[in-house]
Amino acid sequence: MTVAGLRVAVLASGSGSNLQALLDAAREPEAGFRIVLVISNRPDAGALARAGRAGVPTTIIGSDGRDAGELVALLQGARAELVVLAGYLKLVPPEVVAAFAGRMLNIHPALLPAFGGPGMHGRRVHEAVLASGARLSGPTVHLVDARYDQGRILAQWPVPVAPGDDPDALAARVLEAEHRLLPAVVRAWARARTHRGTDAQTHRGGAPPTLGFSAPALGPCAALPASFDEAFA
Ligand code: GRF
Repeated sequence: MTVAGLRVAVLASGSGSNLQALLDAAREPEAGFRIVLVISNRPDAGALARAGRAGVPTTIIGSDGRDAGELVALLQGARAELVVLAGYLKLVPPEVVAAFAGRMLNIHPALLPAFGGPGMHGRRVHEAVLASGARLSGPTVHLVDARYDQGRILAQWPVPVAPGDDPDALAARVLEAEHRLLPAVVRAWARARTHRGTDAQTHRGGAPPTLGFSAPALGPCAALPASFDEAFA
């Protein structure tokens, strides 16, 4: 049976826990989206196994991920309307970014614009947050444009830095928030698309859809919404 919904392609290089969160969310009634293709530059990426278990087609691309023509052809062949970078460790070639302008998201494990940019990924991000003495961290979902980690921010979720945190402890707390934030954004994107009656063509080169929520204001922990659900209700 064909299930309608926003067609989402995911690029991932690692364990794929964010991909798993998307796969799980896509199975929910009224999800409004489905994962149609998972692409990785690493044959041993856990993300590929997760996609395989969910029955989602996978493709392994050259390890440097530089073949723009191949990537665009794969994404267009899958009729992807939205492309999500979920732990994708290669720079996406500018031609691919241009082909999916306004329709490509990335999740970053810190509160951009701080702690982003070239070389800031994985453990390094959390080390930098701890070294700065920041009291808050948390994931950011943003549009991908030609500049590293600088595309428009769509959503963020503040996560407290606890006294005595090491990079692993902080990463684990942030990752938990990632697993809720990323599906929330994709669901909202799917809803926005449905309301506008749009398709891939309409979004091409145009403004991204207006999502149903904006980033929660950052403030002292005490002022944060009591729960994620409350903030995104
Ligand atoms: C996440 O922390 C994400 O923010 C970053 O890479 C990590 C991927 O983790 N871009 P996973 O492969 O989804 O578990």
